[in-house]
Amino acid sequence: MRIFVTGGCGFIGSNFVRFLLRERPDAEVTNFDALTYAGNLENLTTVEEHPKYRFVRGSICDRAALDAALKGGCDIVYNFAAESHVDRSLHEPQKFLDTNVTGTATLLEASLKAGAKRFVQVSTDEVYGSLGKDGVFTETTSIKPSSPYSAAKAAADLWVLSYHRSLGADVVITRSSNNYGPFQFPEKLIPLFISNALEDKPLPVYGDGMQVRDWLYVEDNCRAIEIVGKKGRSGEVYNIGGKSERENLVVTRALLREVGKPETLIKYVADRPGHDRRYALDISKIEKELGWSPNVGFEEGLKATVKWYLEHREWWTRVKSGAYREYYARQYGGRL
Ligand code: NAD
Ligand code: TYD
Repeated sequence: MRIFVTGGCGFIGSNFVRFLLRERPDAEVTNFDALTYAGNLENLTTVEEHPKYRFVRGSICDRAALDAALKGGCDIVYNFAAESHVDRSLHEPQKFLDTNVTGTATLLEASLKAGAKRFVQVSTDEVYGSLGKDGVFTETTSIKPSSPYSAAKAAADLWVLSYHRSLGADVVITRSSNNYGPFQFPEKLIPLFISNALEDKPLPVYGDGMQVRDWLYVEDNCRAIEIVGKKGRSGEVYNIGGKSERENLVVTRALLREVGKPETLIKYVADRPGHDRRYALDISKIEKELGWSPNVGFEEGLKATVKWYLEHREWWTRVKSGAYREYYARQYGGRL
């Protein structure tokens, strides 16, 4: 089975590559990644010599690079590559349009030309917009994205679905809730706050901190994405959630307790413009159709995540300081 993963040097993608190489002995994995600020070769040092793993540096916006990397053909494409941070999308929206929309469209064309039998678009619950206190998003909820990030992801979803409806392409889409776990770039809530707490720096809580997210342990998401790729019905969307809705302040206090630091580190700051209040997912479709449910509860997942950040201080110190770029230029420079 030849598997083409894009964005495999990022957070979820690198967990997914390791998951495939560990769990699927028949998988030959190509990881195609542009190595933006969020892509880090250090995330995959444990598999870089694996005989069934290949890394190719390139952008999903670059058709010639994609054609070259896909030359030997492939069976299935998993598209993780994206600009993924809402706050950055408020400052650099064009980048999000380029990568998340044009990049996805370019990758889809190249994949079909290379004979890929299936295209898996890794999307997000953020395409549905914001909920009030009650209600949940189902796969048929209309999309109403708030930020340039989620609008670009929504546009990509529609583009990919149009290839199914009009051109008969075999595509599936996953829309997951907020992931957390090892190797997450410390710009997102949980790794930023754990690492700040470990450095006795303030934890900037936006607005009143009462926004709600549904937290999904990354390993559970990797398993779900693979099941959707394998068994999901063509042209369908599958929600993936952790059944762990928590207010940001509750998450913040829990991680401070786990790290053993005082709540005085919490610092209320100005709210994010357009901040979505609450996300919540109905995941009965994937549970009933594909037999997937989350295995890792929030308390267990948070404990494991804090432990990982405690044991990988060098990794996140390098990432936070930007020094990982010099590190891997030294380690890999000649080979890239
Ligand atoms: P990330 O920012 O950690 O990693 C993104 C990866 O994509 C990086 O390795 C980066 O180098 C690569 N990339 C960026 N632009 C590229 C391009 N033009 N060509 C090739 N590679 C490129 O992101 P993540 O958190 O791992 O998210 C992965 C996917 O999952 C994204 O599509 C995101 O929208 C989606 N998602 C993330 C979450 C979450 O909580 N993190 C939740 C739901 C969905
Ligand atoms: P984030 O991890 O950026 O994910 P998303 O915006 O995609 O849900 O943020 C999660 C929640 O945490 C969101 O409500 C914004 C909030 N947040 C803060 O309060 N402070 C921060 O420094 C960050 C990064 C996020």
